[in-house]
Amino acid sequence: MGGFFNSSIGRKVAMALSAFFLMFFLLQHLSINLLSVFSPELFNEVSHFMGTNPVVQFALQPVLIFAVVFHFVMGFILEVRNKKANGVAYVKNNGAANSSWFSRNMIWSGVTILAFILLHFIDFWFPEINTKFIQGDWSGTIEGVDGYRYYEELVHKFANPLRVGAYVLAFVFLGLHLAHGFTSAFQSVGGTAGRKKTLQFIGKAYSIVIPAGFVFVAVYHLFNH
Ligand code: HEM
Repeated sequence: MGGFFNSSIGRKVAMALSAFFLMFFLLQHLSINLLSVFSPELFNEVSHFMGTNPVVQFALQPVLIFAVVFHFVMGFILEVRNKKANGVAYVKNNGAANSSWFSRNMIWSGVTILAFILLHFIDFWFPEINTKFIQGDWSGTIEGVDGYRYYEELVHKFANPLRVGAYVLAFVFLGLHLAHGFTSAFQSVGGTAGRKKTLQFIGKAYSIVIPAGFVFVAVYHLFNH
């Protein structure tokens, strides 16, 4: 095990695998969020299922948290190693001459996303953990709201233009991170051979459509509450 993570290629493959998992998570997260625009009832049903189903809560959620932490820690290690290598051994990275600014600064777009996740957890995840695991209330209901509470809580959060502004800024960085990360991840697992153009197209589409979808949800609720 130590050998795998000690090799540069091992670290890159591990980084790519955690990235694939997170990209799949983003797709399902956006799909559920979009329900809040098109069908608040369905959004409430699905949110309650995701929030109370034991498989989701006790199997998928820990895997997700592990993937987020792993991706960040591994990214940080890769960054430090690359910086060292650039100083000493190779002249491969020649700044703007052969790579884009964002491909050389994945760590900074990554740190911005991490800061967003912290804010996001304060907004949604910590209150949820508090309600369920500390208060022991798994009902999904709250006084003064008919049916489940999730839609009301979401709309309430997005009534604040400052919060929506911070979220939208983070989604732009997410798009830039994905724009480089998507193809890079495929390259690390050897997936680009012979299909480079197609993957580049899918990567570009994914890195625009997913963040734009999140922007749409946040801005929609700002103006419709
Ligand atoms: C408009 C945009 C977004 C909305 C409305 C939104 C909404 C939510 C809500 C309501 C939860 C709480 C789920 C729960 O009950 O635990 C949540 C959890 C979470 N969100 Fe978002 N989210 C948005 C964008 C994002 C983005 C862009 C990311 C990642 C870069 C992200 C990452 C997460 C993570 C990691 C969790 C914890 C998942 C879990 O419950 O285990 N979210 N989000």
